[in-house]
Amino acid sequence: MHFLTVDDLTPTELDSVLTSARDLKGDYAGTPLADRSLAMLFEKASTRTRVSFEVGMTKLGGHAVFLGKEDIQLGRGEPVKDTARALACYADAVMARVDDHETLETLAAYSSIPVVNGLSDEAHPVQTLADLLTVEEVVGDDASVAWVGDGNNVAASFTVGAAMRGHDVTVATPAEYALDDGVFDRASDYPGTVTATTDPEEAVAGADVVYTDVWVSMGDEDEREQRLDALQPYQVNEELLAGTDAKVMHCLPAHRGEEITEDVLEGERSLVWRQAENRMHGQNGLLVQLV
Ligand code: CP
Ligand code: NVA
Repeated sequence: MHFLTVDDLTPTELDSVLTSARDLKGDYAGTPLADRSLAMLFEKASTRTRVSFEVGMTKLGGHAVFLGKEDIQLGRGEPVKDTARALACYADAVMARVDDHETLETLAAYSSIPVVNGLSDEAHPVQTLADLLTVEEVVGDDASVAWVGDGNNVAASFTVGAAMRGHDVTVATPAEYALDDGVFDRASDYPGTVTATTDPEEAVAGADVVYTDVWVSMGDEDEREQRLDALQPYQVNEELLAGTDAKVMHCLPAHRGEEITEDVLEGERSLVWRQAENRMHGQNGLLVQLV
């Protein structure tokens, strides 16, 4: 079984992963992945994903191998399908951060071991595990959540994952940077109600948690100026949040002064360091179920 999108899991499987994550967070005494190895393939930069998977594997009694694309034969033209089969000769699972989601699908098609998406242009499902743990720890199972900003990879996974958990979600994006219709279609299969709007104030009203991410994701750099112009009204700042008790999430890294202000990111509403810590626990919950 692979984990390329959050809804590769059923809601019951997602619940098992989150339960494992909570159990591990409370007690890392055992070594459930003793003698198991995770190959970690990166086509793009990472701080949290790289370190949380590597340290997480160590905490579970296993081992992680970092593979930067330019350091392995993939960077010299070895096909993805051959890389997939070579890694399966040695490792017990692969985590990959890729430019193009199709690369993950090729890895999965040729891999006899689980492939985990560590971020693609379309999805960031391991981030969603941490986000759901965080929302449910701080607010509870009945939390209402809002996404404000770019309808990007993190937004897509969070929207579907939150709907799977029964959270009502309001997604506020400019029309030109909206989530794909396919994301709303997938989310509509689940109990949480998903509402799309272009009005950030509508999204924030009544939300327990307001979530944002960078306006220029890795790979979108050529569109920087247009994106900054279109997304300016979606900055998460105290003016937008005034009159609410909403907490604020951000997957990090953050661009202070763009999608979020320094005072909000560093203030009492902010859950960002809890989210960052939960990356490791969420992923470990997944790994003990998958590997
Ligand atoms: N949130 C996240 O995936 O961070 P990194 O890019 O540092 O891994
Ligand atoms: N949306 C961002 C997330 C980084 C963790 C990106 O894809 O660059």
